[in-house]
Amino acid sequence: MKRAAILGVGHYVPSRVVTNDDLAKLFDTSDEWIRQRTGIQERRYIEHDGIGSSDLAVPAVQAACENAGIDVKDIDAIIFATLSPDHVFPGSGCFLQDKLGIPCVPAMDIRNQCSGFLYGLKVADAWVQTGMYQRVAVVGAEVHSTGIEFADRGRDVTVLFGDGAACAIVGPTEREDRGIIDIEVHADGSGAKLLWIEAADSTQTPRMQQRMIDEGTIWPSMNGKQVFRWATDKMPEVARSVMQRNGVTNDDIKLLVPHQANMRINEFVAKKLELPADKVVHNIQKYGNTTAASIPLALSEAMAEGRCGDGDLILFAAFGSGFTWGAGLVRLGS
Ligand code: UT7
Repeated sequence: MKRAAILGVGHYVPSRVVTNDDLAKLFDTSDEWIRQRTGIQERRYIEHDGIGSSDLAVPAVQAACENAGIDVKDIDAIIFATLSPDHVFPGSGCFLQDKLGIPCVPAMDIRNQCSGFLYGLKVADAWVQTGMYQRVAVVGAEVHSTGIEFADRGRDVTVLFGDGAACAIVGPTEREDRGIIDIEVHADGSGAKLLWIEAADSTQTPRMQQRMIDEGTIWPSMNGKQVFRWATDKMPEVARSVMQRNGVTNDDIKLLVPHQANMRINEFVAKKLELPADKVVHNIQKYGNTTAASIPLALSEAMAEGRCGDGDLILFAAFGSGFTWGAGLVRLGS
């Protein structure tokens, strides 16, 4: 078996900055409420209609390839994690593959929401370990801004989300002291309807109806308090599990790079793990929740800022819709 490593990371966010005050002009909310409850100050939205998650992914993949020192043409498999695919089908991975100009490379979409990157990384790890693929692009990309309700009814969800994309290139390493050490993922579908979009609903004929638009089931809905409780329970639990299994202590960890859903959640998680605040990466204040993109986006920024690099041990943790959750340990470098 080969050992898999993250060879490079890259990210891209659209240029349009939307502040909390901008949202407060559209529905009943305030900068103070959003900052206090979530830590978010602003987020990015696509500049205009016609830009999909696969479009945001293109520059993210290019940046990741550059960071890995490979050519885009070297990619031999794509795993595309998103809850906001360009279209219902085919998957955004196929659109991305075409836009990257790498015909015949397999492209697989996965739908694991905020845990999508960790699920994707786990699959890429297995593919590389078995020697099946050598340069897997694990992409997380979301265009949320076209799928949230700018009205009082949806305000709890709308203020949270932002658009963005990021990518990690996963490939083999000869070094025993570098690479993906362990990734643990879980799901509990009993929580599926606590954070979901009900429509389009393929149990109904037709699956998209005026009634769904009128009743608002085309927009995301969330039981925020339940999600918060589950996240602050499951993220530390699964993080501890991977740490214990691999004999890792807090001192060994350079940074915790958690999914960015709410700064309060991540502060809670760090407190439960007894990790000092300066070991936790937050960028939700700038981007909101970019779902599948959030972990690689936070890692890519932390690396670009020099907060972590070759040889550093990174702990990932995520929780989201599904419910799905997971944690991972990666020693950077290859
Ligand atoms: O990636 C995973 C996805 N999501 C999450 O992880 C989110 C987890 N949950 C949370 O982060 C929090 O539950 C929220 C930030 C979403 C909400 O915070 P909360 O403290 O749980 O607020 P709440 O839902 O209990 O609402 C408190 C009040 C309500 O008003 P009343 O009933 O007390 O009068 C809401 O109607 O805040 C109101 N509210 C808002 N007010 C201003 C809800 N959303 C907003 C808003 N602006 N955007």
